Amino acid sequence: MGALEGRVAVITGGISGLGRASAERYAKEGAKVVIADVNAERGENAASEMSAGGAPIEFIHVDVTSEESQQALFDDVVRRYGRLDTVLAAAGVSSANYVSGEVSDMNDEDPEANFLHNRAISDWQRVIDINLTGTMITDRIAVQHMLKLGTPGTIVNIASIAGKRPLVGAADYCVSKAGVIMLTNVMATELATTNIRINAIGPGFIETPMTAGIRQSPDWMDNVMMMTPMQRFGQPHEISSTALFLASDESAYFTGQTLFANGGMFVG
Ligand SMILES: NC(=O)c1ccc[n+]([C@@H]2O[C@H](COP(=O)([O-])OP(=O)(O)OC[C@H]3O[C@@H](n4cnc5c(N)ncnc54)[C@H](O)[C@@H]3O)[C@@H](O)[C@H]2O)c1
Repeated sequence: MGALEGRVAVITGGISGLGRASAERYAKEGAKVVIADVNAERGENAASEMSAGGAPIEFIHVDVTSEESQQALFDDVVRRYGRLDTVLAAAGVSSANYVSGEVSDMNDEDPEANFLHNRAISDWQRVIDINLTGTMITDRIAVQHMLKLGTPGTIVNIASIAGKRPLVGAADYCVSKAGVIMLTNVMATELATTNIRINAIGPGFIETPMTAGIRQSPDWMDNVMMMTPMQRFGQPHEISSTALFLASDESAYFTGQTLFANGGMFVG
């Protein structure tokens, strides 16, 4: 029996990086997995590639910044599968200009150009809209469905070490992730006496398309190694195993927690 046998899982940002690794892991553990993402073309390809490995994984298009789009996603899943057991909110961007898998958003030549006082407010708004408001909309719609279904549910939000440690040039990202940590704390407390548990993961630097720019930048690589006692990037499977723990009954006494899978940061 897999840890998620017979359960229905929705994973936003599920076609790439941490979301994708988690989708594959959840499916291996017996879940029926729906991956939801803004990139429709990549999404359809990802779903058929991932399904070739075993359990069918379905793709549904969603833009997490749109309440309407997320409502349609969750309504569709609940209508067709009759249940919603676990949700992983993994959709996110590292900066306003980041497009997953396409362009590097690093600006090594003039780092100060990325300081908050030099950035457009529209850049700030975009990152907050996707990372924080998008996660909030995912969580609240999932909770509404879970309460209506009356069955136990787990929600896992992907925060970041950036929610705790200031990263120069990434104020929007850091604040969005600090917000995700507090969103998790508040919602978990509000729901503590229900059957719904909400936790978060705070990854360090993990080898996904989002960190491709960092891995090509000698200055950033020095920073990452300085911050990471284990002296290496994490692998997506090292985050998906944490997601699986928080999604499953193995974490039954956890709610409102952020587990930092970060190669030894914040130790002291
Ligand atoms: N990779 C890391 O080192 C790292 C560290 C800490 C936190 N995180 C967080 O983990 C999550 C996943 O990142 P990743 O590294 O897998 O990056 P990724 O770029 O591989 O995946 C992010 C996914 O989110 C999707 N997405 C972006 N905007 C969206 C929108 N509006 N609606 C729906 N989907 C959207 C992208 O299309 C992409 O598939 C993000 O929230 C990121 O901030 C990543």
